[in-house]
Amino acid sequence: MKIAILSRNPELYSTHRLVVAAKERGHEVRVIDPLLCYMTIATQRPTIHYKGEELVDYNAIIPRIGASITFYGTAVVRQFEMMGVYSVNESVAISRSRDKLRSLQLLARKGIGLPVTGFAHSTKYTNDLISLAGGAPLVIKLLEGTQGVGVVLAETGKAAESVIEAFRGLKENILVQEFIKEAQGADLRCLVIGDKVVAAMKRQSKEGEFRSNLHRGGSATVARLTPSERATAVRAAKIMGLNVAGVDLLRSNHGPVVMEVNSSPGLEGIETATEKDVAGMIIQFVEKQARPGNTRTRGKG
Ligand SMILES: Nc1ncnc2c1ncn2[C@@H]1O[C@H](COP(=O)(O)OP(=O)(O)OP(=O)(O)O)[C@@H](O)[C@H]1O
Ligand SMILES: [Mg+2]
Repeated sequence: MKIAILSRNPELYSTHRLVVAAKERGHEVRVIDPLLCYMTIATQRPTIHYKGEELVDYNAIIPRIGASITFYGTAVVRQFEMMGVYSVNESVAISRSRDKLRSLQLLARKGIGLPVTGFAHSTKYTNDLISLAGGAPLVIKLLEGTQGVGVVLAETGKAAESVIEAFRGLKENILVQEFIKEAQGADLRCLVIGDKVVAAMKRQSKEGEFRSNLHRGGSATVARLTPSERATAVRAAKIMGLNVAGVDLLRSNHGPVVMEVNSSPGLEGIETATEKDVAGMIIQFVEKQARPGNTRTRGKG
């Protein structure tokens, strides 16, 4: 097969692993920077060009679209879909997963367990928002935060009030969430491919910290999931429409709750912690699925 990996940097661990795995399995593979693609939008024959050359005859693409280039990156994915090229994650699903509120609303509608969550943009009714989320202790998040930055634990109502008010001053969308204390500073990253969790790791925060992000000093080990955790992760990915996803769960005393579904999950942490060849499994999945036009949307939506 001829496979394109849409990624800005061939040296990133995940990109590199996918290239190696594809070559190992006898495929022709190329890393393409989506920001350097240019395209024609025409009724008859949409085309994609890259460094002066038209990209033709690709059987499949594997998008690794970073959050900062979602808009242009998903347009490139959509163009491939319009050309009938199979994309392991489709453009609509990637866009959907990048909108945290939309994702939580979709998951809630389908009955997936979630932490009780309130969200607001600029309400002055801080105390009402706090009580809607069940009162302190609460986790307050900036919607655009990443790697644990902008995620604050407010242990008392007073603290929650001050944090919300400070965030409101930034004119950002904020999320106010039930603190899942019983998770004890750990979360689960479940790597879903198709209808299976193929690898799972537990990230444990360092002493005195509730955020388990590896960038915040957390450590990762292989996790054994319960059947209900597996089922929740698979269903969450399916609801988002993602074939490959990193689903983050917390172990709450009302069952597994989903924090986030990531459409370009990093492979380094999970391959290291579980010693599994996740990149190889993604390529195998592509082999099984990639047929011309085998996208659900063909770029529609
Ligand atoms: N409601 C909660 N209860 C308990 N712990 C939480 C809660 N929300 C977040 N955490 C902890 O804080 C960490 C960071 O939160 P979260 O994943 O929401 O933000 P982020 O990592 O900055 O964003 P993103 O995952 O979108 O990059 C989580 O991995 C988890 O360990
Ligand atoms: Mg996170």
